[in-house]
Amino acid sequence: MNNLKSVSVQIVNSDLALLLPNGVYEIKQMESKSSRLKQICLFCLALCIFGIFGFGYFCPDKVCALSSRETIYIEDNIGKPLAQTKTKVGLSYDDMLNDDFTFDMDSHDVMVFLHMQKTGGTSFGKHLVHDLDLRRPCTCPISRKRCHCFRPHSNQSWLFSRYTTGWKCGLHADWTELTSCVDAKLDDLETVAKRRYFYITLLREPVSRYLSEFRHVQRGATWKGSRHFCGGRLATDREIPPCYEGEDWEGVNLDDFIGCKSNLAANRQTRMLADLELVGCYNKSYMSKGERERIMLASAKKNLLSMAFFGLTEYQKISQYIFEETFNLRFAIPFEQNNSTVSSNTLNSLTTKQSEDIASLNNLDIELYDYAKKILFQRFEKVKSRDADFEERFKNLGVIYGKQSPTEFDWDKLEDPTESP
Ligand SMILES: *[C@@H]1O[C@H](CO)[C@@H](O)[C@H](O)[C@H]1NC(C)=O
Ligand SMILES: *[C@@H]1O[C@H](CO)[C@@H](O)[C@H](O)[C@H]1NC(C)=O
Ligand SMILES: *[C@@H]1O[C@H](CO)[C@@H](O)[C@H](O)[C@H]1NC(C)=O
Ligand SMILES: *[C@@H]1O[C@H](CO)[C@@H](O)[C@H](O)[C@H]1NC(C)=O
Repeated sequence: MNNLKSVSVQIVNSDLALLLPNGVYEIKQMESKSSRLKQICLFCLALCIFGIFGFGYFCPDKVCALSSRETIYIEDNIGKPLAQTKTKVGLSYDDMLNDDFTFDMDSHDVMVFLHMQKTGGTSFGKHLVHDLDLRRPCTCPISRKRCHCFRPHSNQSWLFSRYTTGWKCGLHADWTELTSCVDAKLDDLETVAKRRYFYITLLREPVSRYLSEFRHVQRGATWKGSRHFCGGRLATDREIPPCYEGEDWEGVNLDDFIGCKSNLAANRQTRMLADLELVGCYNKSYMSKGERERIMLASAKKNLLSMAFFGLTEYQKISQYIFEETFNLRFAIPFEQNNSTVSSNTLNSLTTKQSEDIASLNNLDIELYDYAKKILFQRFEKVKSRDADFEERFKNLGVIYGKQSPTEFDWDKLEDPTESP
């Protein structure tokens, strides 16, 4: 495993994890006010100096005219999500909220949907291809079982997702797989020199998600097509021993599901959002369990912040609003909130032991979800504060005049039975 990354220093948020080069991990506490003040002063000073010299250096003649967009393309962050903070390289989330930001569907921008199992991603993925109010709407030829979501003036896809490009980077590809694959796959499809990537995803309350996955597997789903590609190779059966023999795990009971140590349902969201190369991929002997878990969680939180959009299944309306405001796109349908999903039945019939086991198996996801909730509401406040028509907009989410009822569409005809959702 020589092509793994060494753990790098990642100062994320003041209350986030600090990963040191020797693999040691520390929680960085909130700094004291005075040191923070000092930092701000230093930062301002640096900014001034950079401004004076940087302007002349980075902005020779034509570039600086009006096209700040051009410079972004030149220094893009190929195949990667947003930059963590404001930097010269690529956009950050705050940059996206600037008035002059547009998701440039006509040129180099690509949305990449990281779809984790049982987070409501299937409905969301359908809304993306079917309900967005676009200059050139997606078309969904039945014969192809997928949709074309093309740029207005070329037949190139602006959306990388199951229902457009297909599972090009593997079934339910995770962060590690997508970031090492999307750019190359799109290069195979089209000749575009540079692209900007906007990663989007959904998270769900971890216990409900876990139970939902359990029921799905009990009904026979396997996600066998998932590759678990990391560090340049597929995970081996020794690294992820199968939980069952034979074709699938149909009819499994909850205790057996919980009992399988290599069951990827546990802490799935953290694993799928983390950069697994930091922890030696699926090689559990690469570092201690505690260290592995802490680094994965810190990495997942960091990558969450780099998502141009993430929604929470439990907050459909807020998620829809944030998506629309961030990308300046509108859905012609209000997202539905399904409160009483099947899992509430299962939830009530759990024994105390089962509840405890599930919570402890998903400890990282529970922390990640709490964090995601905090960030979601921060983002909500931020976009809300820039929106003079908030009340009206929020009340009429999904209503677009002249486009009140989306066209009839038979999704069952589009469903591909070989790819379990
Ligand atoms: C909510 O339920 C409706 C009707 O059962 C379904 O069509 C829709 O996909 C569900 N939405 C989500 C996010 O699960
Ligand atoms: C795009 O595809 C459509 C059919 O889907 C075709 O009619 C059209 O000529 C194509 N346009 C370009 C620019 O390739
Ligand atoms: C897993 O990691 C250990 C410790 O770094 C290493 O010795 C071992 O060769 C690795 N296993 C594989 C399959 O790469
Ligand atoms: C879902 O739950 C929220 C908050 O618990 C509630 O406000 C909303 O009315 C519920 N929606 C439905 C369709 O039951």
